[in-house]
Amino acid sequence: MRIATSCCVAVLALAAALSSGQAASTSHKAPKPHASKTQMAPPQVAATPPMGWNSWNYFFGKVTDKDIRDSADEIVSTGMKDAGYVYVNIDDTWQGERDANGVIHANGKFPDMKALADYVHSKGLKIGIYSGPGTKTCAGFEGSYGHEEQDAKTYAEWGMDYLKYDLCSFIPDVMQKQAPNDEAQQMRLMYQAYDKMAKALKATGRPIVLSLCQYGWDSPWEWAPALGGNLWRTTGDIEPQWDRIYTLLSQQAGLEKYAGPGHWNDPDMLEVGNGKLTLEENRSHFSMWAMLSAPLLAGNDLPHMKPEIKEILTHKDVIALDQDKLGRQASRVYSDGEVDVWLKHLSDGGKAIAVLNAGSDRVATHPFHLSLKKLGIAGPVKAKDLWTGQERELKDNMPILLHSHDILLVRIAGSAK
Ligand code: GLA
Repeated sequence: MRIATSCCVAVLALAAALSSGQAASTSHKAPKPHASKTQMAPPQVAATPPMGWNSWNYFFGKVTDKDIRDSADEIVSTGMKDAGYVYVNIDDTWQGERDANGVIHANGKFPDMKALADYVHSKGLKIGIYSGPGTKTCAGFEGSYGHEEQDAKTYAEWGMDYLKYDLCSFIPDVMQKQAPNDEAQQMRLMYQAYDKMAKALKATGRPIVLSLCQYGWDSPWEWAPALGGNLWRTTGDIEPQWDRIYTLLSQQAGLEKYAGPGHWNDPDMLEVGNGKLTLEENRSHFSMWAMLSAPLLAGNDLPHMKPEIKEILTHKDVIALDQDKLGRQASRVYSDGEVDVWLKHLSDGGKAIAVLNAGSDRVATHPFHLSLKKLGIAGPVKAKDLWTGQERELKDNMPILLHSHDILLVRIAGSAK
């Protein structure tokens, strides 16, 4: 886990050096791939944001076959499956050696990948795997460089339904080596690498969700859908700390036009239930990822999940916002002091409003008055408070008291103006 983390930090620093900021790097001249009409056809996978669980945020490099089986069992027994969680994703550190024919094999932690996939499928779930276009993954394990078609075939033979493809060593090993001082060419190499794997997956004939992981630099939302990416990371790595979660959340403002059925912005996997996040922070994190139509990939220790965490992760009304078939990501309409107000349009013509107190002090943001006018909503209007289940009336300029890092999440039904 230590090795993995330090490795990733180094690569991320490198990425940051290449591109000075999340939405920056417009200086290079490489034309970005664009989606054609056929690519905008109804999606074969990820029509709504993928839901499931991923091993990294809790197990890091220690994940084993047993952890994956146990997590699949828990997804069923906790009701997460019924709530919509489908994918059980193995992240980095499963890889072993390639054989004389170049075929990748799992390491000793995963004695039989096909049997593991069969087990997960037998639960009515799907399974995902992880690799990268470089020679090594972020944790220093075998990458897919030069073996893309072969690896895609292997994943399909094992029965994989999802691939997270993580750039990492491709930056120093290929981009910087092959095109030193030529940023445009480096970008072209990156596009080609993702394109190659997307085509290789397609050639297997198996529907496999493709998750692009390159930390959100070079604005992947502008080109990832054209390369067949179903989701793309918009940020660096998440951590189970409020400040980090809030930073990633804030970086999503303005990206809403890029998300839609089959192609989603990914502000990274959930930390709900991890670290020392308070109940309010867990609730706000989950609410906002749902508002963002973000992939909901839990990353906690499922066999030891506390009831209050289960309640958050399986909250049907909140999940319904995320999975709304319209697929419209929320916009941050305005901020006042340390309170942010986000609005999401829903397929029934209704709206969800999130009022988030991002500040560390309740007093500093009190009293906060909600402006329905700024949201384009004529009040008073009835709304359902999704966390309490109660109906309440929203009025323009009404005072709202929120504890530090807590959220008010309400849904206005479709018939309301
Ligand atoms: C990168 C990714 C993480 C995780 C690790 C695995 O840091 O951003 O989500 O997959 O690699 O090494």
